[in-house]
Amino acid sequence: MNLRKHLIAGNWKMNGTLGSINEILKIDKLCSDYEVDIALCVPNTIISKANETISHNNLIIGAQNCHYKESGAYTGDVSAKMLKDAGAKIIIAGHSERRQIYKETNEIVNKKATSIINSDLQTIICIGETEEEKNMGLTKKIVCTQLENSMPSISDENNTVVAYEPIWAIGTGKIPSLKEIEVVHKVLRSLISEIKGIETANKMKILYGGSVKPNNAKDIFDIDDVDGALVGGASLKSEDFMDIINIC
Ligand code: 13P
Repeated sequence: MNLRKHLIAGNWKMNGTLGSINEILKIDKLCSDYEVDIALCVPNTIISKANETISHNNLIIGAQNCHYKESGAYTGDVSAKMLKDAGAKIIIAGHSERRQIYKETNEIVNKKATSIINSDLQTIICIGETEEEKNMGLTKKIVCTQLENSMPSISDENNTVVAYEPIWAIGTGKIPSLKEIEVVHKVLRSLISEIKGIETANKMKILYGGSVKPNNAKDIFDIDDVDGALVGGASLKSEDFMDIINIC
């Protein structure tokens, strides 16, 4: 039986303004009865307001990215320490959109995750293969290389969550077969065991992300090594997000 407490994290990406705080409040009100951890990684511009308005029962507010330095001449960037100051409790590192569009390497993701952890925050480290890599049978190799090189030496089960997000499943409505998800999550857990030891591996959460919707969430959450989800599009509407939490 899976004894890890599940986490459902929403990633709003570049969506949402102060007018969206109402949507967050709806989630906050409804989620206090649940036995799962819930996070909403919102745009930096609304972290502070969101954090001030929620009840902090089950829900935490997070960010989607940060710079790996604490401060300095990096025009337009924001550090983990600054996001913590605004109220973030968790920060995503290495989302595939950052890796692909902004050319973030495993080394950069590792530095970002390190700075997040050193700021006493949790990080969600994302990994995942492209469709081409999947078709070439490279999924396991790609995700293991990404995780091995992106996960900091200071990562443990309390400060780090891993999210497997096949790039071709993000925003497409397509998901891998349940067997494929199961195999990848098993491989990732055994890699974490090799690197960090079995105790940490048994406690570290591994989320699935990529087109998680109310209609496929149950099957995904039934997989043994899946400890929750990183949800994009369906986290923007409180009804859909709450449906997924309810199923979990
Ligand atoms: P979708 O749920 O919209 O596919 O997005 C997944 C994602 O990128 C979460 O980080």
